[in-house]
Amino acid sequence: MWWHLLPLSILAALGAAAAPTCSSAPSTLHLPDAPYDNFFYSDCNTAVQVVVTTPQPDSNLSLISPRLVIAWPAGNSGVCTYFAPQNGVNGSLGIEVVNSTVGTPLAATYGDSNTTSGNDTTPFYGVTGTIRFNSSAILTVPILGSIRTIRDFVEGPSLLRPQIQDSINASSLSNGGALLERLWLDNVTSTHLNFTPATSGSVTVGKNNTLTFEAGDYIFTAQFNYPQLKQLSPAQVLTNTSTGLIQQDPERTSALSFLSYSTKLLAGAWRFLTYFGRDSMISALLLEPILSKGENGAMEAVIASVLERINRTDGSVCHEETIGDYATWLNENQYGLYSTEAQCDYKMVDSDFYLPVLMNKYFVEDPVGRTRAGAFLNTSAGAFNTSNGDLNYLQMAAINAERIMNLAAPFAGQSNQTKDNLVHLKDGQIVGEWRDSTYGIGGGRIPYDVNTALMPAALRAIASLARNDFFANQTQWAELADEYAQVWEDETLSFFRVTVPESDAKQLVSSYAQTIDFTGPNKTDTIDGDVIYHALALDGNNNQSQVLVMNTDDCFRHFLLNTTASQHQLTAFMNQTANNIRRTFPAGLLTDAGMIVANPAYGKDPVYAANWTRGAYHGTVIWSWPLAMMAKGLEQQLGRCETTNSSAGHSNHARIRIPDFCQDATVYDNVKTAYNALWDSIEANQAQLSQEVWSWTYDSSNDQFLPTPLGVMPPPPGSSSQTESDIRQLWSLTFLAVTRNTSFR
Ligand SMILES: *[C@@H]1O[C@H](CO)[C@@H](O)[C@H](O)[C@H]1NC(C)=O
Ligand SMILES: *[C@@H]1O[C@H](CO)[C@@H](O)[C@H](O)[C@H]1NC(C)=O
Ligand SMILES: *[C@@H]1O[C@H](CO)[C@@H](O)[C@H](O)[C@H]1NC(C)=O
Ligand SMILES: *[C@@H]1O[C@H](CO)[C@@H](O)[C@H](O)[C@H]1NC(C)=O
Ligand SMILES: *[C@@H]1O[C@H](CO)[C@@H](O)[C@H](O)[C@H]1NC(C)=O
Ligand SMILES: *[C@@H]1O[C@H](CO)[C@@H](O)[C@H](O)[C@H]1NC(C)=O
Ligand SMILES: *[C@@H]1O[C@H](CO)[C@@H](O)[C@H](O)[C@H]1NC(C)=O
Ligand SMILES: *[C@@H]1O[C@H](CO)[C@@H](O)[C@H](O)[C@H]1NC(C)=O
Ligand SMILES: *[C@@H]1O[C@H](CO)[C@@H](O)[C@H](O)[C@H]1NC(C)=O
Ligand SMILES: *[C@@H]1O[C@H](CO)[C@@H](O)[C@H](O)[C@H]1NC(C)=O
Ligand SMILES: *[C@@H]1O[C@H](CO)[C@@H](O)[C@H](O)[C@H]1NC(C)=O
Ligand SMILES: *[C@@H]1O[C@H](CO)[C@@H](O)[C@H](O)[C@H]1NC(C)=O
Repeated sequence: MWWHLLPLSILAALGAAAAPTCSSAPSTLHLPDAPYDNFFYSDCNTAVQVVVTTPQPDSNLSLISPRLVIAWPAGNSGVCTYFAPQNGVNGSLGIEVVNSTVGTPLAATYGDSNTTSGNDTTPFYGVTGTIRFNSSAILTVPILGSIRTIRDFVEGPSLLRPQIQDSINASSLSNGGALLERLWLDNVTSTHLNFTPATSGSVTVGKNNTLTFEAGDYIFTAQFNYPQLKQLSPAQVLTNTSTGLIQQDPERTSALSFLSYSTKLLAGAWRFLTYFGRDSMISALLLEPILSKGENGAMEAVIASVLERINRTDGSVCHEETIGDYATWLNENQYGLYSTEAQCDYKMVDSDFYLPVLMNKYFVEDPVGRTRAGAFLNTSAGAFNTSNGDLNYLQMAAINAERIMNLAAPFAGQSNQTKDNLVHLKDGQIVGEWRDSTYGIGGGRIPYDVNTALMPAALRAIASLARNDFFANQTQWAELADEYAQVWEDETLSFFRVTVPESDAKQLVSSYAQTIDFTGPNKTDTIDGDVIYHALALDGNNNQSQVLVMNTDDCFRHFLLNTTASQHQLTAFMNQTANNIRRTFPAGLLTDAGMIVANPAYGKDPVYAANWTRGAYHGTVIWSWPLAMMAKGLEQQLGRCETTNSSAGHSNHARIRIPDFCQDATVYDNVKTAYNALWDSIEANQAQLSQEVWSWTYDSSNDQFLPTPLGVMPPPPGSSSQTESDIRQLWSLTFLAVTRNTSFR
């Protein structure tokens, strides 16, 4: 077995006990993405991702340097080390992880608990492998502890915290290797990283925890004694009827399993290897048909993770959790507390609304969920935050629903449909929904997706849950929430609607194409009428009453709502989405590289073109999940045209009237055309779909848009760092469940 291959000195340091035996072979995944090389390893005891970065001939050396990252879901923990060539010639050092006698290329390690620290019984789990240096190298910066601490260095202004860095100890090992170790701020957990020459060579310890390596192969071992999570295997994440996907699509199902655990699903690897509310719930809604139901299933893991983390005082859903070493650091530095208690970030305003929608989908509409509601909702909510132990999941859900009802009430009041009564971002925050970067919604205070789609969808779900006796203390919600929903469905779109007369539209697009030096056709010839779209937000920067950026957030309404009252509004809404997708950028949203999430061509102010760029996280770039949600949303709307009385029943309401747009040949054809154009571009970009986000370049010689990593694009003005995209992102795996409906061809 593997540990017999380790040098004896390491064995002694680890303790000689064996890890609990796993009944199945480890799961591994190798995803090269130069300059990054990604390795995933998991077995029944532990899970880890290893990322090796090595400069390529065309790399920008001020951004890309040799780096080894080891990331563990447990505690959102990790190790990051940067290397420099000893000869000082930038770009000359190459590093790689190679197969060897210790692993192919990785293997798990196990060691006894640290008995010297008294009563801690958590064993050390870790990973080992062989790293190869093509020339002599210096390990310049080690960071041991939390992924959040690593991100503060990698993405922030190279921030290193003395309190964390000064507690790293470097020491030489008798076998010619060296050990870096750090005791966490909890005084219990330690992270260790050691390097041992595989054959010849040596490691020397220098000042400031630097290590110097001769060229050659070194066995690295990284481990820590923190409680591990319980991963859901591919068969455990999927419903029984979907397990065929494990054979058909081993890579995506392995990635989904790597991000799925018994207590939560994780947003992405490696930068977001922990709970994020919005990511988990959007993923669960899109993956719902294939996600495992019932006790210990993935659906309940998602819903429980959200309920556990609600702010009991005001019902807000947690956006991002802070756990592990970073939580202890934050407790001390932000609150002056010496505590390891996890923290939550509640700054988002959109996340609250996904919860009732997801609960309704599972506990009301799903037959398994219906049988589980009683036992599940009776669970105590104290597992994440012990002080919530006196509340159960149902009470947490009711507190969240009450928040939504209170936020909805003013706008729903008679003659009260004013901008002031719409949902605003929280005071002091510049972000609040999924476009959560500086340029995301252009400083807008009142986001489009939240007000026109998420709020009414949540209200419909609360009404349905109430009709099914979930809120015994609030029986009036069964009708009241529907009344509110009607107003929010019918009266919000008009605040955001932007109509650009045809001739203005052509002129705006033409001058935008010039402004950005776009080398492809400007596509003004495809503008065959007034251009209509919905502003990203209201009350933006520079006194913009509407943030004039065409966008993909129509997908929320298409996916989450089947509106009925205003047929005229629905027809126009379907038509403008379809027109904007049918048209190619810069006139519309589609490109050969996928559908861009933001198109600033119709904003008159030149600042729009400057801020929503190909290098901005939420600029003229492509995200995977909006492709999936738009595709599914359009499919559902087209599906309403097929509805007959006998196919009703899944829905909260017997709202089975066939919408008017189905009978308007122009509109119906537009929607079908858009659906198929979108799917053609999804199918052409299979290689990108599991990534978080990507950008494009225009290839004039072949007249096409080429997908291009976001990380190689220059960042927008005023932004200090580039964004490294996650190689795998939970909500980018939703094409496992979202597939093309060929009956709409
Ligand atoms: C490492 O070994 C695995 C399993 O034998 C193999 O699939 C893979 O190609 C090898 N990798 C390298 C870099 O040799
Ligand atoms: C065990 O814990 C003690 C005390 O906290 C610490 O000094 C020591 O470095 C730890 N040993 C290991 C192997 O982590
Ligand atoms: C050991 O247990 C005692 C009593 O339960 C506790 O106060 C102390 O914090 C524990 N120490 C460690 C290092 O976990
Ligand atoms: C860890 O130990 C230090 C030194 O004894 C102490 O000041 C600190 O409060 C402890 N931290 C925690 C989280 O208990
Ligand atoms: C040690 O590292 C710190 C922080 O990176 C730096 O300020 C200091 O100059 C270094 N000291 C030596 C001797 O290199
Ligand atoms: C929870 O909500 C209350 C009321 O809005 C707020 O005062 C408190 O700071 C929130 N808790 C956290 C941890 O943000
Ligand atoms: C309903 O009200 C009772 C009595 O005030 C309270 O104990 C219970 O927690 C409430 N139920 C929910 C789900 O909030
Ligand atoms: C109308 O909105 C105002 C706040 O803008 C609020 O105070 C009032 O209660 C609302 N009316 C109703 C009937 O909800
Ligand atoms: C564009 O970005 C600049 C710099 O951050 C900012 O001052 C300006 O208000 C932004 N414009 C818009 C429309 O968001
Ligand atoms: C935009 O494209 C049209 C042809 O479709 C062309 O006539 C026009 O000159 C272009 N505008 C610019 C500014 O290049
Ligand atoms: C739908 O869009 C097309 C293309 O712009 C337009 O000709 C048609 O009038 C629109 N129909 C409706 C009902 O909006
Ligand atoms: C809307 O109707 C379609 C077609 O019947 C259906 O697939 C979809 O689930 C419905 N959406 C909602 C939110 O009820």
